[in-house]
Amino acid sequence: MNKRDGFASNFGVLVAMAGSAVGLGNMWRFPYLVGTNGGAAFIIIYLIIILTLALPIMYAEFVIGRRAQSNVYGAFKKLAPGTHWNFIGGIAILCCVIVLSFYSVVGGWTMDYLWKSVSFNLVNSDTEVLSNMFKDSVTSDLRPLFFMFTFVGLSGIILLSGVKNGIERYSKVLMPLLFIIVVVIAVRSVMLPNAKEGIDFLFKPDFSEVTATTILEALGQAFLSLSIGFGIVFTYASYVKKEVNIVKMSIFTALSDTLFAIIAGIAIMPAVFAFGIAPGQGPGLVFETLPFVFSQMMFGSILAILFFFVLFVAAITSSISLLEVVVAYISEEFSISRKKSIFLVIAIVMFLGVFCSLSQGTLSHLLIGGYNIFDLCDKFTANILMPLGALLVVLFVGWSMKREDFLDEITSGGLHHISPIYLRIINFTIKYLSPITISIIMIRSIWITA
Ligand code: PHE
Repeated sequence: MNKRDGFASNFGVLVAMAGSAVGLGNMWRFPYLVGTNGGAAFIIIYLIIILTLALPIMYAEFVIGRRAQSNVYGAFKKLAPGTHWNFIGGIAILCCVIVLSFYSVVGGWTMDYLWKSVSFNLVNSDTEVLSNMFKDSVTSDLRPLFFMFTFVGLSGIILLSGVKNGIERYSKVLMPLLFIIVVVIAVRSVMLPNAKEGIDFLFKPDFSEVTATTILEALGQAFLSLSIGFGIVFTYASYVKKEVNIVKMSIFTALSDTLFAIIAGIAIMPAVFAFGIAPGQGPGLVFETLPFVFSQMMFGSILAILFFFVLFVAAITSSISLLEVVVAYISEEFSISRKKSIFLVIAIVMFLGVFCSLSQGTLSHLLIGGYNIFDLCDKFTANILMPLGALLVVLFVGWSMKREDFLDEITSGGLHHISPIYLRIINFTIKYLSPITISIIMIRSIWITA
């Protein structure tokens, strides 16, 4: 059998994991959630959730992936032969394909806006023009398709070079660059007059805003942001060397993801408040509000280019992680070359992406359960497939995997010491706390969407 490709360095693993974790969720969801859920109070709750709940789940995914050294489907065949646990792999793969079909459309929008800002056609002080520009960009037929195809194609090119020479090499350059640019934008943003209002919006702790919903919001965001439940940590872990410290690597990934989200908030919110705009979230914030904000700032056109570059890179490093899950599965389970499986996966994603893209315009009347195709894919994965995948992973590790195997893997065969108390906490979380909380999140989101 051929030797599997793999990450060459610890730093490579970290930037690849952070590349997947840092995405649109950090840029357009986290800052808004913080602002509307009690500022620093939300950040504190979010950090507690990351430390107590999200990290142990990440360890669980890491442990299975690295122990099996296999794709997400094959891993369960290796670790639990003759059982049906590989069903988990099936869910993760399906989840990645569906997420990719709409994530690539948004990735295409970021490229479109990067192009608009580079050709200096974007920054405009007329909010109506900006809002129409966004509508026209996403509802037309060919333009978003062209950018979506390009986005998926570029992700495929990175993957063609493999794990070490593709994912690792690109992430090593792109992630530090991303970080520097966001810091530059944040510094510019806090220097604006009236920036304080935005900083207060983000950081003034207000525990009276904290409700049960806040906690559930924080939970959902933590999972989505760390890319837990998609088989991603799992697949990347299968390329990680045995000596790598799983606990440390997961903590670093979570820290960089959270740090990035907070700095993104500092880059965005003070600027939005400085010009007296009500902050929103999602596409409206980044594609309509921010171009206006940039139009009011000195060097705004340059900042716009930097900002949309950041958005594009954040999206593409997440997209390659989603693609890799499916590519590894197809090439290993069906024994076809990596190159062929990349082409196959890309073709499937582009095909599905066409429907998601057109559902913004031409196919917008096509509603299923009240949702257009794009929103349906989003809701189905975020509310059902992702939590279900995460739930099954913790059930597998907590209840089916041998405790000695888990211990052996998480300590790299005894190489790394973990305090017995912390091990007990991890054990308790994986066995009881996570299954219960994930079930609550799932029931709640199905309740809200239904
Ligand atoms: N973690 C990404 C974000 O914060 C979302 C994502 C999840 C991307 C899973 C890819 C895969 O935006």
